[in-house]
Amino acid sequence: MHPLSYIPTGLLTLFLAWYLLPLTSATSYFVINTPANGIQWSNNAINPITWTKGLLDGVTTVDVELARLSTDGLIFVAKDVSTPLSTGSLNIFLQDVPTGDDYYLLFLNSTHGVMYGASQRFAISDSGNGTAPTPAAGAPTVTVSGGPNPTVGFATIFPPSANGVSAMRAVDGARMQLWAVASVVAVCMFGGAWTVL
Ligand SMILES: *[C@@H]1O[C@H](CO)[C@@H](O)[C@H](O)[C@H]1NC(C)=O
Ligand SMILES: *[C@@H]1O[C@H](CO)[C@@H](O)[C@H](O)[C@H]1NC(C)=O
Repeated sequence: MHPLSYIPTGLLTLFLAWYLLPLTSATSYFVINTPANGIQWSNNAINPITWTKGLLDGVTTVDVELARLSTDGLIFVAKDVSTPLSTGSLNIFLQDVPTGDDYYLLFLNSTHGVMYGASQRFAISDSGNGTAPTPAAGAPTVTVSGGPNPTVGFATIFPPSANGVSAMRAVDGARMQLWAVASVVAVCMFGGAWTVL
């Protein structure tokens, strides 16, 4: 008999969940609302990204990348995008980006690779089919040219923002644990969604 089989399954699950926490505590809640399934972005046009996130999650900047299912290589869209509020938006002007219907937007910290969120699958064409929402008012516009090129780096790097990051970290322990538990659930759901794609 395997030694682990003496441990009740519930306890083992709990242990594994806590074991995962340090890796996932930053990824509490981050949903990319636009683009989503059925949206077609267009080259030579401004296409909006909008998101909703946990206000007290401590994630005040993110890096944005474009990925495709069928092709290797990432398009580095923007680094250090400021995300201090629970909602935000960014406009993307596309130029000569390869067309396809298997694009995803990734929100992550590219320094240590922690993923905060991914969009649903969407399409990019040369002349959009009218499904892309109008550009987000007041949001910065980033220009993205061409396909994946590992030597190019991020199209835009935003300057450090002046908002107080450290204040976010002072959230009391109990609340942090709640966030952490929620994030394990979120990560499990995300993992599940990833496998069915
Ligand atoms: C527009 O393109 C998207 C993605 O390819 C597709 O899902 C959607 O059905 C298209 N809409 C129209 C009106 O053709
Ligand atoms: C990624 O994490 C590093 C180390 O924690 C931090 O210095 C950097 O600002 C983060 N980048 C973003 C985009 O949040």
